[in-house]
Amino acid sequence: MPDKDAAVIAAVAKGLEGVIAAATSISSIDGTAGRLTYRGIPIEELAANSFYEEVAYFLWNGQLPTQVQLDQFMANLVSMRTLPDNIVAALKLFPANSSGMDMLRTVISLLSVSDPDEENNSQESNRRKALRLMALFPSIIAGFHRVRNGLEIVPPDPVLGHAANFLYMLTGEKPDPVKVKGIDLYLVLLADHGLNASTFTARVIAGTEADMYAAVTGALGALKGPLHGGANQGVMDMLDEVGSLDHVDAWFDATMAGQRRIMGIGHRVYKTEDPRARVLRRVSDEMGYAVGKHDLHEMALRIEQRALSHPHFVERKLAPNVDYYSATVLYYAGIPLDLFTTIFAMSRIVGWTAHLIEQYADNRLIRPRAQYIGPDYQPYIPVAERTVEKLAEVAQSLHMSMSQS
Ligand code: SDX
Repeated sequence: MPDKDAAVIAAVAKGLEGVIAAATSISSIDGTAGRLTYRGIPIEELAANSFYEEVAYFLWNGQLPTQVQLDQFMANLVSMRTLPDNIVAALKLFPANSSGMDMLRTVISLLSVSDPDEENNSQESNRRKALRLMALFPSIIAGFHRVRNGLEIVPPDPVLGHAANFLYMLTGEKPDPVKVKGIDLYLVLLADHGLNASTFTARVIAGTEADMYAAVTGALGALKGPLHGGANQGVMDMLDEVGSLDHVDAWFDATMAGQRRIMGIGHRVYKTEDPRARVLRRVSDEMGYAVGKHDLHEMALRIEQRALSHPHFVERKLAPNVDYYSATVLYYAGIPLDLFTTIFAMSRIVGWTAHLIEQYADNRLIRPRAQYIGPDYQPYIPVAERTVEKLAEVAQSLHMSMSQS
């Protein structure tokens, strides 16, 4: 029974599957070929040659920076890393067992109230906010971790790059180059990915002309879910549950018998291997040897091999997505498990803000339609007459009339 307007609504595309809801020039995904580009540069080329700060500049500006532009961009980023006093105070209010994503979502809201430009949606203001958010995400996440462990917050080191500085603020130690490279690659690979659930959420909020902080807060809410950014923690929980390589086969058989989903596998768009998973598999393999815990990578690999040869996955074209080997890479880099999804956010803040800048530049309120499937009419019954029998009678007649329509 469609909405009561003249418009005739086609069948509902559950989960908006296959619906083209925006035009974008930021990233392109070919789910059949397993191809991802950022503004036309294949993700494999960026992973091999670039680094996160340069990718951020590229995603925001649409062209690669000259050395002078890159140096200025990185200097501006470094100048914005220090946590404001009100944020330091707020970090001390969270219980130690708070979810990292709940903390991040809350702190970004608090950040907005101290920005005099909060409501200014001009390109110039939003570019400054985007840089501020990119600079502060690592400081907020590391600061939260230090405070909840009763440790002093480590001030940012202006000499270190984005990934290195984050690991330094997290641990208070000069970071291992292997871990820095792993985190930087991770940040490059997850920076943007078309109209995924959290980016779409952000664009819907910007579509009402609410501010960038409000849109990013909404995106953080969406990313937390285990079907989206929360899957990387789910993969690590799964590997913990398996325990060892020789338990993989029994675990896999029991999982399939119990019809449980394997986190990190499957994708709404990719019907072949996610190109980011291909790079992360190699990074995970190399880091596993470097940190002396390659057995975890071998477990993930064995589970993947079992899945890729099982009819349930083959028939549905399910393959590892970006979260699958993200789990081992983040673990090898020493990231605490309950902060895994915040690191996904630390990368995706660049994609979210790039899409927001694009949305504000050519905005129209995003407002789809719904197919109404409730009763066409039912009478109002005064409360004095609402006996259990009467309400049951009304429910029965509604059920009958709806099953006949
Ligand atoms: C990200 O959109 C993006 O771009 C997201 C992302 C990004 O960069 O932003 O790529 C990041 O979020 C990656 C996805 C992380 N999520 C997970 O790894 C969670 C596990 N995967 C899924 O639950 C699932 O594959 C989704 C949510 C990712 C996609 O779900 P869809 O497209 O809605 O597919 P579906 O749930 O309708 O499943 C279709 C079939 C079902 O079986 P049948 O009903 O046909 O019998 O495939 C099965 C599902 O049971 N299936 C799985 C499975 N995923 C789907 N079976 C076992 N294990 C799985 N992981």
